[in-house]
Amino acid sequence: MSDSYGLHNRFLAWFMAREGGKYSALVEGRKRHLLGALTGTLVEIGSGTGPNLRFFPRELRVVGIEPNPFMHRHFLEEARAENRSVELIQGVAESLPFQDESVDAVLSTLVLCSVAEMDRVLGEILRVLKPGGRFLFVEHVAAREGSWLRRVQRCVRPAWRRIGDGCEPDRTTEEDLLKAGFQKVSFDRFALPLPIVSPHIAGVAEK
Ligand SMILES: C[S@@+](CC[C@H](N)C(=O)[O-])C[C@H]1O[C@@H](n2cnc3c(N)ncnc32)[C@H](O)[C@@H]1O
Repeated sequence: MSDSYGLHNRFLAWFMAREGGKYSALVEGRKRHLLGALTGTLVEIGSGTGPNLRFFPRELRVVGIEPNPFMHRHFLEEARAENRSVELIQGVAESLPFQDESVDAVLSTLVLCSVAEMDRVLGEILRVLKPGGRFLFVEHVAAREGSWLRRVQRCVRPAWRRIGDGCEPDRTTEEDLLKAGFQKVSFDRFALPLPIVSPHIAGVAEK
């Protein structure tokens, strides 16, 4: 890891821990609805600083997969504050350290916008989910094709990627989800009062 990569990752962890609450407030209702009744084992890819921990049922087994080691301290602090036990693994969603058909649910919030290999990630999620298992997601996505916002997203993409650790504002994630091989994909499309990354999807894909 180069110094600048380390510094940038440290900055992102600090920024998410400090500013993430404002974003969380905007999606709180949706997360409560999506995450409040999970059972068994949940793998959270890109678990970051742990903003989702407070929505999980107490008895749920939670395993975070997070490549940025500077996020880990914040995630574990949040778990302590929530008085819950968690497991945390340094790794990437392109290669999940779980057996085939071994987990009940996988969660991604604001992660599919920046994974390096979307097809591999969705393939891994399908591999580790039990039959009938659910992939839950809250993600920002591309604005409608032809809209002014879509053009803006395309223009800022190179700089956005650099600043946001690979995050692309104009990913058509819902299309990737629909063709990944899930039995059923359902989601809401909605807009948040944010610049550039206003368009969002939240929903469930069932294996
Ligand atoms: C914008 S943050 C979101 C963090 C958290 N999920 C949230 O909702 O606040 C994106 C997270 O995805 C992680 N990430 C980036 N690429 C990843 C990958 N290939 N696999 C797993 N996590 C990844 C980053 O390290 C970062 O923690």
